[in-house]
Amino acid sequence: MAYQLEVIDLTNLPPADALLSVQEQAYYQTLRFPKRRNEWLGGRLALKRIVGRILGVSDLVQVEVLPQESGKPKLLVGGKVTRLAYSITHSNGFAVAAASADERLIGIDLEKIEHRITAWKNDFFHPSELTDDSDEFLTALWTQKEALVKLLGTGLSLRSNEVCCVRGQAQFAGRALEIYKSLGEPQITVTTDKWPAGFMFSVAVGK
Ligand SMILES: CC(C)(COP(=O)(O)OP(=O)(O)OC[C@H]1O[C@@H](n2cnc3c(N)ncnc32)[C@H](O)[C@@H]1OP(=O)(O)O)[C@@H](O)C(=O)NCCC(=O)NCCS
Repeated sequence: MAYQLEVIDLTNLPPADALLSVQEQAYYQTLRFPKRRNEWLGGRLALKRIVGRILGVSDLVQVEVLPQESGKPKLLVGGKVTRLAYSITHSNGFAVAAASADERLIGIDLEKIEHRITAWKNDFFHPSELTDDSDEFLTALWTQKEALVKLLGTGLSLRSNEVCCVRGQAQFAGRALEIYKSLGEPQITVTTDKWPAGFMFSVAVGK
């Protein structure tokens, strides 16, 4: 697996106008809540830095991460769509991006390890996924499922039992399976780390 990660501390962001293109600035101005503005900007800074490293672009304004209807942003370099795989996540003061020139598809997710109510567990997971009951395990499982949703890249809202992760193996049903097939049934690998301290972070990559 070959991908690069960049993590951004959202309490220490550079000024937006030094980083964003005209189109990005226009969207950024529509974001009203400071938390969302910082997450959005931090995700862009993270992805722009990686893309700049991979493609050798020093002017990060040339790397544009523009919103689109599906929720998955569009990545342009010098106004042209790139072939890189990429994904963004943010949680509790951090933004993380991943990008790769080698992998075809990538999805990432970061979540803080917390105790959550039983109803959440029962709503969100299929019984076959629940091989442990600890907060760490359930948070890890959540990040795995969300990383898989992002790898599929669809804007359709999927039911939680359509995207499962059983002992690290992705399993799709219903519309998620249709999307997976339409992507050519990639071989998917999911890896999870307890990183940074107090968080779970998953990466799903598809060949
Ligand atoms: C898309 C989704 C996975 C985002 O996850 P989240 O934990 O809410 O938020 P995160 O901070 O981790 O990720 C947000 C980023 O995901 C990316 N994203 C959003 N929609 C996306 C999509 N359809 N595909 C890929 N990436 C997407 C964006 O980059 C977004 O950041 P940005 O708006 O600042 O650019 C989630 O909101 C969602 O819709 N989940 C579907 C729920 C669902 O179907 N669950 C059942 C299966 S588990």
